[in-house]
Amino acid sequence: SWTMAGFIDEQIEKIRAEVGDKKILLGLSGGVDSSVVGVLLQKAIGDQLTCIFVDHGLLRKNEAQQVMDMLGGKFGLHIIKVDAQDRFLSKLAGVTDPEQKRKIIGNEFIEVFNDEAIKLKDVDFLAQGTLYTDVIESGTDTAQTIKSHHNVGGLPEEMNFTLIEPLNKLFKDEVRALGEELQMDHELVWRQPFPGPGLGIRIMGEITEDRLKTVRESDFILRDEIAKAGLEGDVWQYFTVLTNNKSVGVMGDYRTYEYTVAVRAITSVDGMTADFARLPWDVLQKVSSRIVNEVDHINRVVYDITAKPPATVEWE
Ligand code: XMP
Repeated sequence: SWTMAGFIDEQIEKIRAEVGDKKILLGLSGGVDSSVVGVLLQKAIGDQLTCIFVDHGLLRKNEAQQVMDMLGGKFGLHIIKVDAQDRFLSKLAGVTDPEQKRKIIGNEFIEVFNDEAIKLKDVDFLAQGTLYTDVIESGTDTAQTIKSHHNVGGLPEEMNFTLIEPLNKLFKDEVRALGEELQMDHELVWRQPFPGPGLGIRIMGEITEDRLKTVRESDFILRDEIAKAGLEGDVWQYFTVLTNNKSVGVMGDYRTYEYTVAVRAITSVDGMTADFARLPWDVLQKVSSRIVNEVDHINRVVYDITAKPPATVEWE
């Protein structure tokens, strides 16, 4: 009968047979799919695997460190971490149009990845976390840019890889079960969907280091309070948005004129349709008071009570 442990053994055999003593390259995104592929490949061919992790500076608080600690530390993957925040921020300077932001982030991601990949010698295989559903369901995985880069022919000619896609017969819940079987951290295995363009599409208007900090800190507070309330499993996705709306407030004896943070929390099955989550008032109250007290430049917090459709999950 079919078991996850059996599937792992079978994949390991298959990968070894196909790869022999050649080298594999894998792009890590911080999401569950590419991480599971990384751990599986590490088991199969160990040192022959090199990973590239592009930190575009648009990740959530502590996220890059968690990837490095678990995959690099605990599982011993060889990861080349590229700190590309400055590169991304300078390309994004002054850009406010959502589609333009997405394009810039996607293109820059491919460029940074390729700049690193081209330095590696004698790599024959490129591994990807493609799922069975990836063809029909677009855009719920952070590795999207890496996936599409092969399809759209984004690879330079001198990089002529054979693709390895060990998850391409699996659904998301099976990938999570596989991650559990591989003893990967629960937190990473059950991570909520996170868009490829990251926090870049959760900042209305211009993306600056300061504004990134604001959205990152408020997002961290929301995640912290949802975890404390034990609601992680009930809410499909939750995050904060830094709006470009300023409003008047009062702090002590002073009038303030600062930005508004929106809280988005939804229930959904697949992200295609969604409803706003009925979060308990006391959780929302805690989130609100912590955000205005702990995050600079914020004097108002609102809760997004719109379903999808007509709204989308993300604000950009
Ligand atoms: P929307 O905003 O389209 O989001 O209702 C539906 C789901 O997709 C995620 N999302 C993305 N994922 N790249 C991704 O990998 C993207 O550009 C992207 N845009 C949205 C979003 O977080 C939600 O889970």
